[in-house]
Amino acid sequence: MAILVTGGTGFIGSNFVLTWAKNTDEQVINLDKLTYAANPLTMVPLEGKPNYTFVHGDICDAALLQKVFAAHHPRAVVHFAAESHVDRSITGPEAFLRTNITGTYELLQAARTFYDGLKGDEREAFRFLHVSTDEVYGTLAPADPAFHENTPYAPNSPYAASKAASDHIVRAWHHTFGLPVLTTNCSNNYGPNQFPEKLIPLMIHNGLSGRPLPVYGDGLQVRDWLFVEDHCSAIRTVLEKGRLGETYNIGGCNQRTNMDVVKALCSLLDELAPDTNGESHSRLITHVTDRPGHDRRYAIDATKIETELEWKPAETFETGLRKTVQWYLDHQDWVHTITSGEYKRWIEQNYENRA
Ligand code: NAD
Ligand code: TYD
Repeated sequence: MAILVTGGTGFIGSNFVLTWAKNTDEQVINLDKLTYAANPLTMVPLEGKPNYTFVHGDICDAALLQKVFAAHHPRAVVHFAAESHVDRSITGPEAFLRTNITGTYELLQAARTFYDGLKGDEREAFRFLHVSTDEVYGTLAPADPAFHENTPYAPNSPYAASKAASDHIVRAWHHTFGLPVLTTNCSNNYGPNQFPEKLIPLMIHNGLSGRPLPVYGDGLQVRDWLFVEDHCSAIRTVLEKGRLGETYNIGGCNQRTNMDVVKALCSLLDELAPDTNGESHSRLITHVTDRPGHDRRYAIDATKIETELEWKPAETFETGLRKTVQWYLDHQDWVHTITSGEYKRWIEQNYENRA
């Protein structure tokens, strides 16, 4: 038995694969292109583990995908691989359309060919789980109800549009070709192994180095935050018990403004890594030019997964954030391997021209 994970060296995929390989004997195959977002240090704990196989490759490569399915005969695909950063989708949308749309299409085609050759119990058990985002639903006004599975799609950023397209393609491959798919739409994740271009690890990294903490616009945008391990447990639950063709919203019921998040991080840094000068990290908070098309509020109604599949998150925002800050403090070597070269260029490009 084996599962095929795409993008398993990235933030959420690596948390999923590390937990999977630790807690089961089942083979996990990680197919990853190793883009800038993948840190080679992340998978070091799995080196030499007999139930872990790494395949370096691109989900747009149809011939490679065919070989991987034939060689490993997976019982399930868990599809994380994507370009995932909204700001990068604004400065360079093409990679998002390629990986998130064409890549998902190629993966579905390879899965479909493989599935068509299966018989009996193997065919009955096969699953294709597509990992997606709440950003496909667009933005909410302060009093709007949270996103539920029937909220109309209204993606606003190139990232969200590319994920929305991939969700629709996955849906069509179920309805037209009978591929046994499941889709999850999750809110903002945080936790270990997140690349420090996203809000929480960027603020921790900048705070520790005494650099400005760049808050876009007024900082009153709202996100629903979920600890990454809770997202992984939800994915395992959907894989095991989800109804074919259904979508499941996943969220932490933790709506916070960006300012709330940054202030909470400053308090944790003040406690766990106090500045030698005795000043609070909050002195570093700097409002900068807003993101174009910035979605104002996301909120998730997770009633369906909670009632139908009996999933609930284990962490509160406070416990998860503390664990996250502690993880970054304990893994400064992990951060330092990626905060040179390409990362420096990105930071210059994204922040230099913000007033
Ligand atoms: P990430 O950017 O940290 O990691 C993406 C991984 O995919 C990297 O390891 C990268 O090397 C790999 N990859 C990129 N292009 C590839 C290609 N063409 N072929 C093979 N591998 C490729 O992303 P993440 O934050 O871990 O997100 C994983 C998935 O979860 C994405 O599909 C994203 O849309 C979704 N999601 C993320 C969040 C979040 O808050 N981060 C929330 C909801 C959903
Ligand atoms: P991000 O982590 O990029 O996730 P997403 O855009 O997918 O929600 O950003 C989270 C929020 O934080 C979002 O409202 C943008 C904001 N933000 C900042 O204010 N400053 C920053 O430097 C970054 C990276 C994000």
